[in-house]
Amino acid sequence: MKNLLSRRSIRKYADRPVDEMLLNRLMTEAARTQTMGNLQLYSVVVTRSDEMKAKLAPAHFNQPMVTAAPVVLTICADFNRTSQWARCRKAEPGYNNFLSFQNAAIDALLYTQTLCNLMDEEGLGYCYLGTTVYMPQMIIDTLQLPQLVMPVATLTVGWPAEEPALSDRLPLESFVHQETYSDYTPAAIDAYYREKEALPENQHFVELNHKETLAQIFTDIRYTRKDNEAMSAGLMEALKHQGFL
Ligand SMILES: Cc1cc2nc3c(=O)[nH]c(=O)nc-3n(C[C@H](O)[C@H](O)[C@H](O)COP(=O)(O)O)c2cc1C
Repeated sequence: MKNLLSRRSIRKYADRPVDEMLLNRLMTEAARTQTMGNLQLYSVVVTRSDEMKAKLAPAHFNQPMVTAAPVVLTICADFNRTSQWARCRKAEPGYNNFLSFQNAAIDALLYTQTLCNLMDEEGLGYCYLGTTVYMPQMIIDTLQLPQLVMPVATLTVGWPAEEPALSDRLPLESFVHQETYSDYTPAAIDAYYREKEALPENQHFVELNHKETLAQIFTDIRYTRKDNEAMSAGLMEALKHQGFL
């Protein structure tokens, strides 16, 4: 798969290992990604053992890819290594703060996306797991992440055993603003979301869940205020625990 226009998330993997040399090559190449101060404020924890995948799974709400994928990568915002380097070189690090977390998280996410693009070129399948930031303390404990290391992304990786249909995207005009941000009128919202709302699978989902609109699927079922607030509290606690707050 070489064209970004045909990329999709892959959640089912063939019973075929992901070669360590191949993965190491891709992870090396991905490090050409731009990074703040060229400090490479990230680390990747590679999980291949069934035992460790089973330990990680609950933190990801037991999404089946975690135990089924040959490899699970947890990408972390990491100011630990840089801070240790500083201390070893008579320099006093000042990175135990929120700005530094934000900078390291940006580095880690940019690295993650480059790695995804490289995996696409090789024909490897992957799925990004946003659950990484829902119960981060479980991941921190399982992977024994020290202070100033915070998990921000997980990729399950393997050779594809499915070819799902391409998912829809909003039209360009819906997310590009010229010169200044032009806020949305109800008519514009109608136009931009019409196609998504008309998709048979989305209409089916609305019916199945006895909802009136597709948006209610997101607000009332998938990403609710209650969950968001509870998991925000957990995220803040984990950031404190890791020394970023
Ligand atoms: C921040 C983020 C979090 C995601 N979390 C999950 C997840 O927990 N489980 C999952 O199956 N897919 C997850 N995905 C994948 C999205 O569902 C997927 O990218 C989106 O539906 C578009 O489909 P496509 O990637 O096939 O184009 C996540 C993607 C992103 C960028």
